Amino acid sequence: MFSRFFKREKSEKEKYNDLPIPEDADFSFLGADMHSHFVPGIDDGAKTIEDSLVLLRAMEQMGYKTVITTPHIMIDFYPNTREKITNGLEILRTAAKENDIKLTINAAAEYYIDEYFAELVNKEPLLTVHKNEVLVEFSMMYEPPMLNSVLFNMQTSGYRPILAHPERYTSLHNNFDKFMELKDRGCLLQLNLLSLTGYYGGNVMNTANKLLEKGMYDYCGTDMHHEKHAEAVKNILQTRLYTLLVNYPFLNSKLCL
Ligand SMILES: [Fe+2]
Repeated sequence: MFSRFFKREKSEKEKYNDLPIPEDADFSFLGADMHSHFVPGIDDGAKTIEDSLVLLRAMEQMGYKTVITTPHIMIDFYPNTREKITNGLEILRTAAKENDIKLTINAAAEYYIDEYFAELVNKEPLLTVHKNEVLVEFSMMYEPPMLNSVLFNMQTSGYRPILAHPERYTSLHNNFDKFMELKDRGCLLQLNLLSLTGYYGGNVMNTANKLLEKGMYDYCGTDMHHEKHAEAVKNILQTRLYTLLVNYPFLNSKLCL
């Protein structure tokens, strides 16, 4: 008779283990991926057009309909420009067509927040993922001193920042309030799918789980660079993690419209 008084809440792990393992799952519920490195030879992603085609085929097989690929613009390592990315997009589209890949392919950029980017915001139109939304990242190790002013400047210039993989910034792991603050400042947050698998380590996985539980993510992305990523993303389709993701209100599908 006392059992109802002593019935304890299930832990997150127990709740997770109760989820069904999916059958015939794919990523068509997302429709679009908005973070990847498919343009060949311009960053640390695909090196050749053959690499790009392998990755694009993998995306198509996993059920994606649209990819918005986002080469790095990081002045010290990948000094890419609008023109370079736009030209790269044409190369990708042509190769995809010749190889019967039916994905809709677009391109934006993953802008690295530093002094160069701070100036670029006012200098030329930025490449957007969707309408006024711009994908940005910063150092994994430390928070750049100009972070808040750059985010503010982006917004006064009419852009909405999407912060790439917030769970990967070591400097934020013990400062959960900072994620709240970023949301309050109008940033959208993008989960890297592989963060939830432990691919980038335990701290990243725990932070990603916490952000997901609290419903703080807006988008999810593959951040795919190479075949190893493609395999690891594909493996998610056979795990309970998929069931968790399919029920989360990501905004990705609006990118297919
Ligand atoms: Fe990336």
